[in-house]
Amino acid sequence: MRISFPEGFLWGAAGSAHQTEGNNVASDFWALENRPGLLPERSGDACDGYHRWREDLDIVRDLGLGAYRFSIEWARVEPVEGEFSLAALAHYRRLIEGCLDRGLTPVVTLHHFTSPLWFQKAGGWRALEATDRFRRYVRAVLPILGGVEWVCTINEPNMLAMMANMLKGTERKENVAGAMPPPDREVADALVAAHQAAREELAAAGLKSGWTVANQNFQAAGGATAERDEWAWSREDRFLDIAAEDDFIGVQAYTRVLIGRDGALPVPDGTRRTLTGWEFYPWALGGAVRHTAERVPGVPILVTENGIATADDGERVEYTTGALESLHAAMADGADVRGYLHWSLLDNYEWGSWRPTFGLVAVDRRTFARTVKPSARWLGGVARAGGLS
Ligand code: BGC
Repeated sequence: MRISFPEGFLWGAAGSAHQTEGNNVASDFWALENRPGLLPERSGDACDGYHRWREDLDIVRDLGLGAYRFSIEWARVEPVEGEFSLAALAHYRRLIEGCLDRGLTPVVTLHHFTSPLWFQKAGGWRALEATDRFRRYVRAVLPILGGVEWVCTINEPNMLAMMANMLKGTERKENVAGAMPPPDREVADALVAAHQAAREELAAAGLKSGWTVANQNFQAAGGATAERDEWAWSREDRFLDIAAEDDFIGVQAYTRVLIGRDGALPVPDGTRRTLTGWEFYPWALGGAVRHTAERVPGVPILVTENGIATADDGERVEYTTGALESLHAAMADGADVRGYLHWSLLDNYEWGSWRPTFGLVAVDRRTFARTVKPSARWLGGVARAGGLS
């Protein structure tokens, strides 16, 4: 074995509700994607994961992976303010039990980008009542979380806060792959408060929790270290620091962003890119883990997302090999990493488009038939062997 990972290291794949389930009609993103002309494509039936989850869990198990990350959809659980759907909660309980029955560790996210439309219409994260509303949702979900050891409260709050600014449309749009406008301060503060409220509720019920941060690997170009640090603070570091009190932190890394004296630099012409336009940079994962371990020493790390949008499945193996090598090196240098969850299990809806395919498994958009790609079998082999040979 060339590199081996510790005994008990979690190997898995990930997805999110809106991107896989289909017909998430009570959510804010559904409203957005169905506004004529705004986004290239709609989620529609997505991967019909709401009905085909058993098949998906079977695939994860049969590959030899040991964990599955998915999210609970707030808009399904509380489609109308204060009215909770017992059937939706029962659905997600079946999903959790479906994992446990197959020997898979469920990694459950409570909020993955989407909110109920009523919540958005009532002011979204900027409303005074936002934290209480989120707390009430978390309380409703608590009874179905028995047996779950990894609860992610909010997925990529930093990205959510940056998207809030993009949607306002008042911020300068930066045409830089991987780089986004600065986070909306109000939304960022609200997400911190919501996370803390959720953590409080979960801890009182004996559940461990953390949140997942979009790690953007900000690297100083031409000695612009101070500028890089300033850039990183509002976009990433303040969200990492909050995790100092948490049971774990989720690292999500795909690429890097170079920061010069005047901010983010465009990806240079001729650079190898992925289908999302990001620089092909597998070592982002090691860098993200090192940075996270430095900011919140002692907090266990779970890689909750890492992967590549590519139509070339061989490239997925190449990318993931580099990512795992860089992860292993960071662990050898002391980072406490408990597992690696590949993004994504399925070729799922990439927030406005179906073109960037991140999946280990292809999905026929008409029949919903799943086809396991060679990269999935390769990752399953890595998981079974506990490392790369
Ligand atoms: C998100 C996923 C998304 C992925 C690739 C992350 O920002 O959590 O929902 O599909 O990156 O863009």
